[in-house]
Amino acid sequence: MRTHYCGEVNASHVDQTVTLCGWAHHRRDHGGVIFIDLRDRAGRVQAVFDPDTREAFTVAEKVRHEFVLRITGAVRRRPPGTENPSIATGEIEVLGKEIEVLNPADALPFQIDEDVIGEELRLKYRYIDLRREHMKNNLLLRAKVARIMRRFLDGHGFNEFETPMLTKATPEGARDYLVPSRTHEGKFFALPQSPQLFKQLLMMSGMDRYYQITRCFRDEDLRADRQPEFTQLDIETSFLDVPGITALMEELIRTLFREAIEVALPQPFPRMSHAEAVARYGTDRPDLRVPLELVEVADLMQRTDFKVFAAAATTPGHRVTALRVPRGGEMSRKQIDDYTAWVGNHGAKGLAYIKVNDKANLPEGLQSPIVKFMSNLVLKELIERTGAENGDLIFFGADKARVVNDALGNLRVKLGHDLGLIEHGWKPLWVVDFPMFEWNEDEERWDAMHHPFTSPRNLDPAVLAASPGTAIAKAYDMVINGSEIGGGSVRIHHQRLQQTVFELLGIGEAAQQEKFGFLIEAFRYGCPPHGGIAFGLDRIVMLMAGAGSIRDVIAFPKTQTAACPLTGAPSEASEQALRELHIRLRKPAGEAARG
Ligand code: AMO
Ligand code: AMP
Repeated sequence: MRTHYCGEVNASHVDQTVTLCGWAHHRRDHGGVIFIDLRDRAGRVQAVFDPDTREAFTVAEKVRHEFVLRITGAVRRRPPGTENPSIATGEIEVLGKEIEVLNPADALPFQIDEDVIGEELRLKYRYIDLRREHMKNNLLLRAKVARIMRRFLDGHGFNEFETPMLTKATPEGARDYLVPSRTHEGKFFALPQSPQLFKQLLMMSGMDRYYQITRCFRDEDLRADRQPEFTQLDIETSFLDVPGITALMEELIRTLFREAIEVALPQPFPRMSHAEAVARYGTDRPDLRVPLELVEVADLMQRTDFKVFAAAATTPGHRVTALRVPRGGEMSRKQIDDYTAWVGNHGAKGLAYIKVNDKANLPEGLQSPIVKFMSNLVLKELIERTGAENGDLIFFGADKARVVNDALGNLRVKLGHDLGLIEHGWKPLWVVDFPMFEWNEDEERWDAMHHPFTSPRNLDPAVLAASPGTAIAKAYDMVINGSEIGGGSVRIHHQRLQQTVFELLGIGEAAQQEKFGFLIEAFRYGCPPHGGIAFGLDRIVMLMAGAGSIRDVIAFPKTQTAACPLTGAPSEASEQALRELHIRLRKPAGEAARG
């Protein structure tokens, strides 16, 4: 049908006859000459029709936006002064001899070049949305990323194996998507939140190195970087411990960034303990492009008369931190009030500040509602510790550690953006040495910080049971520019230790058997030491593409309410289908009452 892609025709084809297929991106009538920009996946080229080629000209006159065309013509240089350096084919044009309308198109619901379009409309007509240059580029980048991942892993002794989609609940912390069984009345499959247990079983099979680019399903609250179905590059390997796995995995990511977007990432990636990340950045996925840090000041505030600070400084589980804002002294009262309201949304009860006008002159050189509560000695040490200079501002947070981390950790990033402090480029790191468990205040029990199959550093079950709160896990997260792109761990490979973890999580003997009996049994028949990781493919592509939403790198994503405007999913099931599945719908309360 065609000899070339539109976007590939260039000066080397001058005087050749080419046949191209594509969409009419633009059509312009210029004093008896018709220009059609023909577009395909590879790009655009300009075709010209003049009235001398009567038959073709007549067809070209009828062409409208997005008609699908086949055009044959000779490639020629554009007349001097009419070149378009902004497109690859800008030096040439095709003098159309023949044009065939392969399919006309109705007026589109929105124009391809239009920028502001409601997302609902874009998703409803996703196939049109994907014709847009940057959306097309995102999808092509995604395919390239997957290709590079596969090539790297294939070259390092990994094999791609599939794992079931209709399976049993895997505990990754979200709600499951359930699928009713027709053949087993009253029973349900769960769609996998991850292939976690199957990849461990494959290690027990002796497969040694596994990977899979696979869909995972999590029914959780959606955000800009979360989808109910998303794609993981899921990896597992036997006989490697934390250093071996992290070294290999960062090599994978370095190769990926080099080959996909020509970015050289550092070798090795910096490593930071979970405790340090939380202390300095208030989060376990710090954005290291922001050159601001939280500074611990509890020991100083213990000695002040400001009750809120003194109390937080002496209460376990609380913290008092300072955040120095370079040149923040220029902030207006209104700006400070706005930031105070903003951290309020993260639970902070206030946002005390000190403006450093003249640090040599204490306390007069400081402007603040709280300076009056502090001695000069404390102020002097505060200024030294935060490194504040004249003209800076220092913000404070005092509360439960969780609240301060959330409020000031997020404020740190917001200030970085607002004040233009973000450094350019890519800042990857490993966050390591996670605690095994996290105390769940609401339910008064331990939760697994990663997942229940993660190995503690100390393999003695008795040690773990004695002090679960201080146990460190062999877990690692890869973070780039404040985004968690992957997480994994070395796994437990002894039955006794695994059962201890289940018990600590409040999963009793019976529940263990019911949920994970197959795994517990498998440990007994020759289980190698193993570990792995899963990367969020969508998130990686989103970062690389600079996309604002994960939906912009997924061909057919779901909306914020987990629906698909294109197909109308989810939709109702027929009475017949429900009956076969042994399901009777609960009626809304009012309806039920009426019978
Ligand atoms: P985890 O739950 O950390 O680990 O998931 C791994 C990576 O998947 C991405 N991710 C998501 N991306 C888009 N939408 C979501 N809803 C979503 N949830 C997670 C993140 C995350 O880092 N089985 C373990 C891995 C292992 O231990 O090997 C797991 O699934 O980028
Ligand atoms: P107040 O004494 O409540 O007027 O507060 C004095 C200053 O401390 C104000 O700037 C408040 O925003 C700030 N503040 C109050 N509570 C906190 C807190 N928990 N953390 C940080 N700043 C606070």
